[in-house]
Amino acid sequence: MKILATAALALCTAFGAAAQAVDVKLTVTNEAAGPRIEPTVYGHFVEHLGRGVYEGLWVGPESTIPNTRGWRNDVVGALRQVGIPVMRWPGGCYADDYDWRDGIGDPAKRPVRFNKWWGGTESNRVGTHEFMDLVEQLGSEAYMAGNMGSMPPRAMAEWMEYMTADGKTALADERRRNGRDKPWTIKYFGVGNESWGCGGNMRPEYQSDLHNQYATFLRGQTVRVASGDGTGNDHLIEVLMQRSAAHMDALTLHYYTMPGDWSKKGDATGFDMQAWARTLHSARGIDNRISAITKIMDKHDPAKRIALYVDEWGTWYDTPQGASALYQQNSLRDAMVAAVSFNAFHRHTARVKMANIAQMVNVLQAMALTEGAKMVLTPTFHAFDLYKPFRGATPLQAQLQAPPFRTGDIELPAVEASVARAADGSTLLALVNLDPQRPARVATNLKAAAQGRVLTAAAIDAHNTFDKPKAVVPAPYSARPGPQGLTLELPAKSIVVVSVPKH
Ligand code: AHR
Repeated sequence: MKILATAALALCTAFGAAAQAVDVKLTVTNEAAGPRIEPTVYGHFVEHLGRGVYEGLWVGPESTIPNTRGWRNDVVGALRQVGIPVMRWPGGCYADDYDWRDGIGDPAKRPVRFNKWWGGTESNRVGTHEFMDLVEQLGSEAYMAGNMGSMPPRAMAEWMEYMTADGKTALADERRRNGRDKPWTIKYFGVGNESWGCGGNMRPEYQSDLHNQYATFLRGQTVRVASGDGTGNDHLIEVLMQRSAAHMDALTLHYYTMPGDWSKKGDATGFDMQAWARTLHSARGIDNRISAITKIMDKHDPAKRIALYVDEWGTWYDTPQGASALYQQNSLRDAMVAAVSFNAFHRHTARVKMANIAQMVNVLQAMALTEGAKMVLTPTFHAFDLYKPFRGATPLQAQLQAPPFRTGDIELPAVEASVARAADGSTLLALVNLDPQRPARVATNLKAAAQGRVLTAAAIDAHNTFDKPKAVVPAPYSARPGPQGLTLELPAKSIVVVSVPKH
């Protein structure tokens, strides 16, 4: 389907009638709004949880499902297509209960452990060597999450040495005996995870002391990442910035989006307009949280040496009865949440240098879902794909005048936007029409034609299934300038990403 801008207004809403378009104005300037958008804000998170690693990514070399050294070819192929700049592993909560020694050496001799946080047992069939093979197959960077919750500092330090030491040391030799001669590059290393909760229920002051201790013994070149906020706790950020700044290069934010609350999160599909609005409102809250943390970080680190990594973000709904842990469907609404989050990351490039969606396959806001040999790509995958041109681009200052719309007690702007300058000088526009019922007409001050893609669907909970894998996929989009300049017509509930060449 090719949606031409001029035809878009004729699109019907999910309710059958063509609704009146909302008028929006976008004024783009040539002025940078911040440093470049790091490709790593399009990063990922993989945890030993449910069917995320086993089945979703790893099927084992002996599987009849086509694989390369155990990693399934269909999923890896799709992930390579979208580009995976960085991957965080092995948790999450799981990381603070993980002994890296369980996952090295002869796979037949690896111990089976309980998976304390997510249930069932862990075979340790996927360990450091296997994960690093995936990193290399994807052309990604490794972001290892170290255990500060239940292992001594020496264990963390030895894992790092095992992975990265060259020359003749006992640990480097052990790695060689296990099949890897060359040291790996571990670009990012996390010192604990959610230390305020599953990582050990620590007070900020205690965590900060422990962080300093563990980070002291980490050998080699790596970005030392302190576990930060996930509950709106400004005091934690204050304490870490005051007491641990010298021992860290980044700290983290975890931000989950849900229509309800932790006791009743809401459903991934079959939801109403109110849940649509609540979800997008919750997703937009990430911007305020980043601003609040940035303010505290700026006070202690005006030179902005320490980065903020949003190393867990995405939607979290109620897991359906009988499904594997944290499994959920993924609809057009999730793609909108992704777009809103990308736009927020683009607005905060001075601090936000990495973000990792939770999680890659079969868990929370996944890129792909699998069942046996079957795989389907989600609307979130397509949102990542749509936004690909923004990686490395420079955000531009722009003014957006978009009227609000109201659904019950929630008010949202009809349209959200992100504008950036690509390396070739073209202007990139991402326009997100949050209104599920009305199209929007965005009048810009740009004078050239726009080419790109649109992601939309008839229903607010439209999603891809193994039987109908193309219910929500991008379509080509183009618009030509009129005498007043370039106007883009956005269907209701859509994401439009276009490039406008320099003229
Ligand atoms: O992503 C699922 C869990 O959410 C992670 O293990 C944890 O860090 C967070 O609470």
